[in-house]
Amino acid sequence: MMLLPFLRRNLRLTGTKYGCGGGGCGACTVMVSRYDRGTRRIRHYPANACLTPLCSLHGAAVTTVEGVGSTRTQLHPVQERIAKSHGTQCGFCTPGMVMSLYTLLRNHPQPTEEQLLEALAGNLCRCTGYRPILDAGRTFCKTSGCCQSKENGVCCLVQGVNRLPEPEEGGQTSPKLFPEEEFLPLDPTQELIFPPELMILAAKQPRSPQVFTGDRMTWISPLTLKDLLEAKSKFPQAPLVMGNTSVGPEMKFKGVFHPVIISPDGIEELSIIKHSCDGLTLGAGLSLAQVQDVLADVVQRLPEEKTQTFRAVLKQLRMLAGSQIRNMASLGGHILSRHPDSDLNPLLAAGSCTLCVQSQEGARQIPLDERFLGKSLGMDLRPQEVLLSVTVPYSRKWEFVSAFRQAQRKENARAIVNAGMRVFFRDGDGIITELSILYGGVGPATLCAREACRKLVGRSWSEETLDEACRLVLGEVTLPGSAPGGRVEFRRTLLVSFLFRFYLQVSQSLSHMDPGRYPSLEGKYESALEDLHPRCGHGWGAFRYQRVDPMQLPQDPIGRPIMHLSGVKHATGEAIYCDDMPAVDQELFLTFVTSSRAHAAIVSMDLSEALSLPGVVDIVTAKHLGDVNSSTETLLATDKVLCVGHLVCAVIADSETRAKQAAEKVRIVYQDLEPLVLTIQEAVQLKSFLEAERKLECGDVEEAFRTVDRVLEGEVRVGGQEHFYMETQSMLAVPKGEDQEMDIYVSTQFPKYIQDMVASTLKLPANKVMCHVRRVGGAFGGKVVTTSIMAAITAFAAHRQGRAVRCVLERGEDMLITGGRHPYLGKYKVGFMSNGRITALDLEHYSNGGHSLDESLFAIEMGLLKTENAYKFPSLRCRGRACRTNLPSNTALRGFGFPQAGFITESCIVEVAAECGLSPEEVREVNMYQGTEQTPYGQEINTEGLARCWQECKAKASFALRRAAVDKFNSGSPWKKKGLAMVPLKFPVGVGNVALGQASALVHVYLDGSVLVTHGGVEMGQGVHTKMIQVVSRELKMPMENVHLRGTSTETIPNTNASGGSVVADLNGLAVKDACQTLLKRLEPIISKNPQGTWKDWAQAAFDRSISLSAAGYFRGYESDMDWEKGKGHPFEYCVYGAACSEVEIDCLTGSHKNIRTDIVMDVGHTINPALDRGQVEGAFLQGVGLYTTEELRYSPGGALHTRGPDQYKIPAICDVPAELHVSFLPPSESSNTLYSSKGLGESGVFLGCSVFFAIQDAVSASRKERHLPGPLVLSSPLTPEKIRMACEDRFTEMIPRDVPGSYVPWDIPV
Ligand SMILES: Cc1cc2nc3c(=O)[nH]c(=O)nc-3n(C[C@H](O)[C@H](O)[C@H](O)COP(=O)(O)OP(=O)(O)OC[C@H]3O[C@@H](n4cnc5c(N)ncnc54)[C@H](O)[C@@H]3O)c2cc1C
Ligand code: FES
Ligand code: FES
Repeated sequence: MMLLPFLRRNLRLTGTKYGCGGGGCGACTVMVSRYDRGTRRIRHYPANACLTPLCSLHGAAVTTVEGVGSTRTQLHPVQERIAKSHGTQCGFCTPGMVMSLYTLLRNHPQPTEEQLLEALAGNLCRCTGYRPILDAGRTFCKTSGCCQSKENGVCCLVQGVNRLPEPEEGGQTSPKLFPEEEFLPLDPTQELIFPPELMILAAKQPRSPQVFTGDRMTWISPLTLKDLLEAKSKFPQAPLVMGNTSVGPEMKFKGVFHPVIISPDGIEELSIIKHSCDGLTLGAGLSLAQVQDVLADVVQRLPEEKTQTFRAVLKQLRMLAGSQIRNMASLGGHILSRHPDSDLNPLLAAGSCTLCVQSQEGARQIPLDERFLGKSLGMDLRPQEVLLSVTVPYSRKWEFVSAFRQAQRKENARAIVNAGMRVFFRDGDGIITELSILYGGVGPATLCAREACRKLVGRSWSEETLDEACRLVLGEVTLPGSAPGGRVEFRRTLLVSFLFRFYLQVSQSLSHMDPGRYPSLEGKYESALEDLHPRCGHGWGAFRYQRVDPMQLPQDPIGRPIMHLSGVKHATGEAIYCDDMPAVDQELFLTFVTSSRAHAAIVSMDLSEALSLPGVVDIVTAKHLGDVNSSTETLLATDKVLCVGHLVCAVIADSETRAKQAAEKVRIVYQDLEPLVLTIQEAVQLKSFLEAERKLECGDVEEAFRTVDRVLEGEVRVGGQEHFYMETQSMLAVPKGEDQEMDIYVSTQFPKYIQDMVASTLKLPANKVMCHVRRVGGAFGGKVVTTSIMAAITAFAAHRQGRAVRCVLERGEDMLITGGRHPYLGKYKVGFMSNGRITALDLEHYSNGGHSLDESLFAIEMGLLKTENAYKFPSLRCRGRACRTNLPSNTALRGFGFPQAGFITESCIVEVAAECGLSPEEVREVNMYQGTEQTPYGQEINTEGLARCWQECKAKASFALRRAAVDKFNSGSPWKKKGLAMVPLKFPVGVGNVALGQASALVHVYLDGSVLVTHGGVEMGQGVHTKMIQVVSRELKMPMENVHLRGTSTETIPNTNASGGSVVADLNGLAVKDACQTLLKRLEPIISKNPQGTWKDWAQAAFDRSISLSAAGYFRGYESDMDWEKGKGHPFEYCVYGAACSEVEIDCLTGSHKNIRTDIVMDVGHTINPALDRGQVEGAFLQGVGLYTTEELRYSPGGALHTRGPDQYKIPAICDVPAELHVSFLPPSESSNTLYSSKGLGESGVFLGCSVFFAIQDAVSASRKERHLPGPLVLSSPLTPEKIRMACEDRFTEMIPRDVPGSYVPWDIPV
């Protein structure tokens, strides 16, 4: 059993969260403390509870978020500061963040910025954009105030290019969102001490190994080497579990089972650190983090020429996984896992390391080389042997070692390709005597270019040798076109790109050592020498917003940066999410069996074996559901499946483990059906569409094309996106045992829809089914339709059994079953004048909708309505269609089609600019809306805010200055290029239909003067409940502390609309306001009679006079309509305007990129809560950065999703936050009839992420231009390292072998 389920289920400590189960997200971070008998020191380290076996913790102390501090006792400064710095939104990642920070502070009470970034690199957050979490962490750091990035050698605080946005005149704006000076001080003496009883236990070393025996497994913890060797001899097949970061995922995800596990505990021989004349010997049991510390110390003390390998290992370790994994994983476990993408093995092999292994028969040395890594016969460990230590030799004079890696994301991401290289020259004469080149990520094991190296020995270190080396390596290290992992041409390119970098690094070292013999490196090569600086001052930035009117009453919270209502509870782990609810008596667990085929008939389904397993109670199939299965949505597949991941049946058992085991035993026979449609192209060819075409047209497009100077045609793709809410789909159905009532607790955005689906499935009236949602751990559009299907099946099972049923998806299941953002194909024909003015634009949008309609039509419609973004195109035609394919149904995701549609339009702009020889920003300006304008569907809009945002952003970002600086940098840097881009934003807000905008609220005043408010919106992290309490506080003129909000329920607010589309606070806020005003009107005679009275007095007086103290509030929705027949309407209430300017740097040799700086200016109206609104803007922006740069969904040619967890799918991490991120809210220019003239900001910021995309494209163009390559390239999104590298064509991309399309089956296909 792992620590995580033990904490959550057995100890009911639910603060530690499940996010992925594989060590990739950090939600389950705890602090483990161990006492070392030898050194008598206590080691505190962060660990992923999901991979920590409970048995491994014998004698260790575990601190969870509950142990750090609580609202009942005292908050820890870490908890206080994360909450008060607005570092939480949905709060699901927060306990993990708290624990990572807490552990850092236990070890370093005043950490450096570098240590802070390192400590948080293994924690993912999908909501905040990380910046506020870093702000909280920085309050503990030694240095603050400067971004420390010094990107162009100039500190950000120095005036000029890197100048900070200036404070506004007259002090009306504010840069501060929290009072740092009021924070609790950190007092390390107050921390919990290591339990003395554990020290005593450790001192009284028991004589025999610890043995734990369970139903299926035995765990043996030998305490001495002798015991270990004896155990290994007795159970030679048993793995030696150290960190369990390799064995654990194998057992969990690959179904590997070990009846016996040996786990050494504190054996001295495995922890040695010994210097000898040969080198440094490191115990195999040292954690990678300990190895990092040892090497960091050694490289300080020994001369550089002796520490070449150590330095290279250190470089790899810095980027290897996150801090939790590095602290858990052992050196021996790493080496012996022999992962093909291991970062250390190629290097240790290149560095000629040796392994000391031992069995009862004695000890021996094995060379750590490619034969060992490839498990060649006779070169591997024998089953009875254990690895004791690794000796890393010192390097010699004229010996050079380097390490390389390139991953999808800079940190906490496994390498796509890595390498270790070593060369040794005969004393001084520059002739290669020894050469080792090893690669990871290019085959089933670490590969050595042995033949190439052999042939190169005896040659001199020259460009000719490099060319020969590249040719030889490409001939020897081959990757077939269909190689697992795909990205074949990119990987081939990296082989030689790394070689080139190695050549340069060695050449530079040679010239430093003997400048007389070796000329210094040509200037043009300097920029190719190093990787981009991985870590420096990420997320530092300024914020400006309009202060509230000085006349506003101090207790009126509107417009003030109020902390998220649940912020403190998020940070203490007390906030309760669906799966944190205690088990109901006799509760069952439901797990789904899903289709492994994309389009197939179900020939037979055999449930007998599964049903016969202990604990299995029921298996629900389509047959059980009967007619309800097809009346609304198809809940379970009947006779055929339409995608991989299609729900086929549901197994119900008395525990999660048993349900999962039984699900494995359901036997389904499929017969594939034709056609198999996966991609948009295939769907278009077969005319496989979900709905009729939607079209929008204005002006005479054909005529306009006749009068333009030039016409361009092209197409561009935008990949899909996974919601990756941190809390996976979760639900609990509880039959009430009376009148067939059913309560269902769901992590959903749409309680009413769940209620309807459950009621219709159970054939009950809605009044018998109540859906409750306290909070949701992130949703982003993904917790509506599929959630309701799963909830209906869960409730059906509960109803059948008369027992509560819980269903919580694992991350992999969640990613497989649920769809996400629609991939898009945009085709365009654009007519323009030589000055960049676009007068005719003909667009076609095709989205990949998956197998059912879901929200696909709505997304297409929203894409069309917002397609022109910030531009006035006099003649525009845009047609959109959702394609029906054999993929899971794609659905709503923050921005609803606009992030794709707007991107297609911006891609046209970039192409037009290149054609006209203008900058994209010039073309943007020429085409931008000005003043009062009409949209293509005839709605009048005032676009003044747009121009203000654009101009302000340009000024605040010092665009012109920095454009010149970027160009200057690029002219002297052939291998690293910078890019700068600025995009405008017009985001119309509204739901396009009055009924969909109605909202209700209920406000009760109790006789003690306290108030309970409830409304139809769901709290998903956006802070809607906090804003609602602010509204009540203003309206009823009472302190916020007086007002409480318990959650959302169909029992209190019936007939709600879905929470989403940026309008949750807008609409519900108006309903809450209405309820408050009704109450005030009723109580007016009482209040005016006793104006000095308290709410308690007024409530009592009202009660005495039989005046109701409860009021319902209602808002009927914004007036809106859209007639698609005519293409005319008024679908939106208002527009959010904005602009973002981003600067990046790319490494042309590897495709890596770094986000240097982003400036965002938004017109948000009168903000209700600037802290929450800033959080929405920044969080959405970073989600956009993910969409457009790192998040890549990859499907097999059979339609199965390869990317099913954080290991394969890379949402932005801390390293992706721009080193500088400045956000400004414009002072509001107009009042409106929205809630206190505010604007909804949930979605708009996503699009601004494309400023990073276009900045990268700008950098790529600079590289291509310099090499006289034809451009501009239209690049598809996401712009991954692969695409960046392959677009920066050079002699290395030219020399790789290419496969003829169609001659092989690729590992993945773009859908
Ligand atoms: C989320 C995540 C991210 C990761 N990212 C990276 C990355 O970026 N780069 C990278 O290179 N790796 C990465 N890894 C892999 C990681 O480095 C390895 O899983 C880890 O080093 C294995 O060490 P361990 O102690 O946990 O091994 P365990 O899982 O405990 O053991 C692994 C194997 O080694 C054997 N073994 C261990 N010690 C001995 C011994 N002394 N003698 C004999 N046999 C022994 C065991 O029998 C077992 O077969 C990642 C892993 C995870 C989970
Ligand atoms: S749940 Fe443990 S790291 Fe994700
Ligand atoms: S607040 Fe971090 S995942 Fe929601």
